[in-house]
Amino acid sequence: LHPFGVNGEGHLTIGGLDALDLTNKYGTPLFVYDVHKIRENAQAFVDTFKEHGVPAQVAYASKAFSSIAMIQIAKQENLSLDIVSQGELYTALQADFPVEKIHMHGNNKSLDEISMAVEHNIGCIVVDNFHEIDLLAQVLKEQEKEMDVLIRVTPGIEAHTHDYILTGNEDSKFGFDLTNGQAEEALQKLMKFDEIHVKGLHCHIGSQIFETDGFTMAIERVFQVLKDWADRYEYESEVLNVGGGFGIRYTDEDEPLPLSTYVQALIDKIDQQVKENGMVLPEIWIEPGRSIVGDAGLTLYSIGSVKEIPNVRKYVSVDGGMTDNLRPALYNAKYDAVIANNVNGKEKEEISLAGKCCESGDMLIWDIELPKVNQDDIVAVFSTGAYGYSMSNHYNRFPKAAVVFVEDGQDKLVIKRESFKDMIQNDLSYE
Ligand code: LLP
Repeated sequence: LHPFGVNGEGHLTIGGLDALDLTNKYGTPLFVYDVHKIRENAQAFVDTFKEHGVPAQVAYASKAFSSIAMIQIAKQENLSLDIVSQGELYTALQADFPVEKIHMHGNNKSLDEISMAVEHNIGCIVVDNFHEIDLLAQVLKEQEKEMDVLIRVTPGIEAHTHDYILTGNEDSKFGFDLTNGQAEEALQKLMKFDEIHVKGLHCHIGSQIFETDGFTMAIERVFQVLKDWADRYEYESEVLNVGGGFGIRYTDEDEPLPLSTYVQALIDKIDQQVKENGMVLPEIWIEPGRSIVGDAGLTLYSIGSVKEIPNVRKYVSVDGGMTDNLRPALYNAKYDAVIANNVNGKEKEEISLAGKCCESGDMLIWDIELPKVNQDDIVAVFSTGAYGYSMSNHYNRFPKAAVVFVEDGQDKLVIKRESFKDMIQNDLSYE
């Protein structure tokens, strides 16, 4: 089910290392990534484009998990990088990521953010709204620079995991509407600036998507517009960025497609649309986040208190929760887990795995069957590599967990566990 192993002692292994050795060394809660799996996921995208000889860029959506070490891996794998904030840009710069392969998103980019992006000569800005066009033009004039942009459009297709909602006029805070003339107005406005080069279009239909139909529907809609723009403005899109959103397995209820299948579907559809409309094949860009890091990471926790309510439920509490994994509380997201020190234990029981925040909703997993648990057992929650650490927070003033990378039988601490001192470093006295 998950890309991890079990050793002779019945302990969970990650990249060949015993999970218990890792918790003994680094403590809990602990995020552990199998770096080989990250690379494999990235290359599945890259290789499929290569096999078809299609010019493409695979950008890692760093919002899924941004850290210097992770950005270095993205660099090693020749990925591009999607950032949405100055913080993510700063991290990328600290990791010495090639600036020309960075593109910036955001529905409310500030003057400061745009200035920083322009100052560092990033590759491209994905323009999201009219206000931003004015800010960008102002910054480019001030800094006497030029910038490539993609126009983010909302194609009127929203993915609801297993199916799609078609909305004529998509109710979204992101991007320019394709159907009501907004996108065209943006093109007209952008074309007036000599400093701005409209490299292409961008659309993103959602996240954790298990089918290819939504992507292909969006591509059709985008091409209708591109065809029209070719006729009326002689506009030719050099790039079509179709976003991220490729689904992964959290529990066995999820049935993701192989990553190559998504890519294949994108290539086939774009190729067909190009031929049908007599156009030139644009470079295809994608920006997966979850599908690169999600299933490569897991979280190890120590079990503490156990509360049994006879005939109702057994609450087993761990030393983390919604501070390191907000997804169950925020989205009712489901996860799978094992007892890392007794993966195949025969005697089973149904428990619910609770976090330690002062909040009834801080539950990591409801009703999961696990080998009988004992205090100080280590539980591993799978597929926490995306939007786990990146959405972690300081609720109840719990320090942030540590992150370890494992590869070739070696473990390496890549984010230190936060100390209490780290946590209060910006607090000022009022005495
Ligand atoms: N591109 C754009 C424009 C996006 O908005 C996103 C995700 C991605 C790419 C990457 O999507 P991915 O491949 O990771 O699905 N916090 C939520 C997910 C929010 C996704 C936001 N945008 C979660 O934990 O499920």
